[in-house]
Amino acid sequence: MRKKIVAGNWKMNKNFDEAMALASEVKNMVNTEVTNNTIVVLCVPFPFLYPVGKLLEGSRVALGAQNAHEKEAGAYTGEVSAGMLKSVGATYVILGHSERREYFKETNTQLAEKINLAIKHGFTPIFCCGESLDQRNQNIHISFVKSQLDESLFHLSESDFKKIVIAYEPIWAIGTGVTATTEQAQEMHNEIRQHIASRYGTSVASEISILYGGSCKPDNAKELFACPDVDGGLIGGASLKARDFVDIIKSF
Ligand code: PGA
Repeated sequence: MRKKIVAGNWKMNKNFDEAMALASEVKNMVNTEVTNNTIVVLCVPFPFLYPVGKLLEGSRVALGAQNAHEKEAGAYTGEVSAGMLKSVGATYVILGHSERREYFKETNTQLAEKINLAIKHGFTPIFCCGESLDQRNQNIHISFVKSQLDESLFHLSESDFKKIVIAYEPIWAIGTGVTATTEQAQEMHNEIRQHIASRYGTSVASEISILYGGSCKPDNAKELFACPDVDGGLIGGASLKARDFVDIIKSF
């Protein structure tokens, strides 16, 4: 059975007190309300990783970062390495989010390096892929997403590839309130899984969790998560409210 995962991506939101309050609310609600075996992850801003990690200790909520640099260490002012993130307790890291690709010009090649280091440090990388509306309208969305996998992930050995979680996030659905339909999500998730199968075989492909992200909310999570190839969600806006986030987790 593939792992079911719901990860919250807080992005650049919350101050310290708000972050602690939100993490604490999520932890308590998950503890008292969630009866399914979904893996829950909170991907919080760098300054909150250590304290939120301490707060989550002993709970079933895991700690994740939203980015990591592709080099081990050195003169990269303002950057944070995978080793640093590991040392403060993070076990998941989002890599290749479309906002990183767009605003910080992250490339597939650079992401391949980030993936390598994240794996070296024992992380479960949540690798994001997804097309723009323009690409979907041109009907090149499937080949585009496949090329993202080819260029950033398919150099990995089978044993390393199995450590990856994929998040399909159509750019046009992120933060827009427009969610992919279940047909659109299932189609792409299935294409991704077939593509993985063509490189690593069907057994590996069947083990990889593929999350959906993009305006996933309590009122659409159930139908999205019911798609056979959708194994959970990467949740932005709705992860900033404990009630909404936990209701999404309970949609399984
Ligand atoms: P959203 O963001 O849920 O606010 O659309 C998802 C994401 O960017 O991971």
